Parts: sequence; C-alpha cells; structure tokens
Amino acid sequence: MRIILIMRLTPNDRLFVLTGAGISAESGLATFRGSGGLWNGYRVEEVATPGAWDADPELVWRFYSMRRRDALAAQPNAAHVALAEIEQKLGDQFYLCTQNVDDLHERAGSHRIHHMHGTLFQSRCVHCNVPVADKALHETATDLPTCPECGALLRPHIVWFGEVPLDMEGIYRELDRATVLLVVGTSGSVYPAAGFVHVARQRGIRTVYVGPEEPLNANAFDEIVLGSATGVLPGLLSSACPSA
Ligand code: OAD
Repeated sequence: MRIILIMRLTPNDRLFVLTGAGISAESGLATFRGSGGLWNGYRVEEVATPGAWDADPELVWRFYSMRRRDALAAQPNAAHVALAEIEQKLGDQFYLCTQNVDDLHERAGSHRIHHMHGTLFQSRCVHCNVPVADKALHETATDLPTCPECGALLRPHIVWFGEVPLDMEGIYRELDRATVLLVVGTSGSVYPAAGFVHVARQRGIRTVYVGPEEPLNANAFDEIVLGSATGVLPGLLSSACPSA
C-alpha cells in the first residue's frame, strides 16, 4: 500500500500515541474482537471481570496463563520498534499509552510507556494490592498463586471490565499538552481509551488513526490511514522528524 499521509513534527510538537491489540497482531498475538476473538467459547468480557474472578479464579488464571505463554513466545515487530525509535528522537515530547498488557513495546525499547489496562507479567494480592513480578503459568486449582505475606490469592495485575484504568490523571495530563494524537490498532470500542480522540478533538489537535479497518470512533479522527501497523508506522514515523 502506498502511504500518502505525511506527519511532520516541529520542535514544539508533543506526540501522544495510543496503541491497542492491533499493534501486536503481526507479532502473532490475537486481537480481542477480530476472528479468533473468543477463548474456549468465552468472550473476553466473560473472563476479564471481577465477577468472573469471584465465580471461577481458576478459569481466569487459565485465560491469563494462556496469554502469558503467547506473549512470552512473541517478538516485537517493526511497528513496536518504530515507536521506540521515535521516542529516542522526541524524548519527553513523546508519550505512549497502551491498552495492551503484553511487554512487546518495552522489549522493542520503549521507556516512556504507560499500560493503562495493567501488565501481564505482574500479579497482585487481592488483599495487600501490591503488584509483584510474576511470569509463571497458573493453570490448575492446585497451582493458584498466593500472597507470601497474608496467604490470600494473587490475581492478574490487569484492569478488568468494570474497574478503573491505571493513572487516568497522568494520561489526561499528557493528552492535555499533546499536539498530535496517533492511535494505532484499536477498535475504538472500549472506554475511556476510545474517548481520547474526542478529548483531542475538543482541544483542536491533529488526530490520526492507523489500522487495517476503520475503528468504531472513526468519525472523530482527522485522518485515517488504512494499513497494518508494520506497513504504515516505520515510514510514517521515520519521516515525521527526519532531522532529529
Ligand atoms: P480489539 O480486538 O477490539 O481491536 C483490535 C484492532 O486492531 C481492530 O480495530 C483491528 O482492525 C486492528 N488490527 C488488526 N490487525 C492489525 C494490524 N496488523 N495493524 C494494526 N491494527 C490491526 O482490541 P483493542 O481495541 O485493543 O481490555 O481492545 C481494547 C480492550 O478491550 C483491550 O485492552 C482489552 C479488551 O477487552 C481489557 O482487557 C481490559
């Protein structure tokens, strides 16, 4: 596909990037709502809620163990790398907010990154609430992890449906001072992330979406670039600040 969109950034620009499952699709990680958006017959909403956890923690841990296994086997792709490279150029004028819980952005070299829906490789005690590093798979009832301090169950350090995403204050602070919002690979169906484009629009800043199909909130974007993350981002971002 020929890219006609040009994104030139000046020294005064601040780039806010929001990524979704689509950016990791070409690393082999399934998206939520495309084909294959079901896990063992369950929609993600049915295994990613506090109610699902209360009803069947073993089922929830099987789901997140499967996702840990998949993420551990995956490698960052050219789109993750392109974002890490532009961060090198823009420094603190760059902010990456991801809905993804995998660590592919970090493994590509991103540092200024916020995981608003939590991270796959941390767990936290349901009582103490402190996140701890955890890459283990917990797939049977006898395998469920417990807190070394109080003995309560550890849960995935993931924001579930019905819970509040992490550090919304910090996200809106960054969005408030951004001059360009670039959104990549998200269906625009889960709020509050799907509303960032509306906030940006109210502020009159430029908004760009990249993905193979239009998201649900397509009407709010100034520009939509139809293409895959790896097909679009390396060219788009390397030409954004060529002299830096
Ligand atoms: P979705 O599965 O809803 O949407 C994935 C998007 O990626 C779709 O719009 C696809 O068109 C796009 N896509 C597919 N392949 C792509 C590619 N190669 N390059 C670029 N884009 C591609 O995933 P999200 O919008 O991220 O939340 O889902 C949002 C949240 O819903 C997730 O963070 C998760 C989920 O339930 C929680 O778990 C709390």
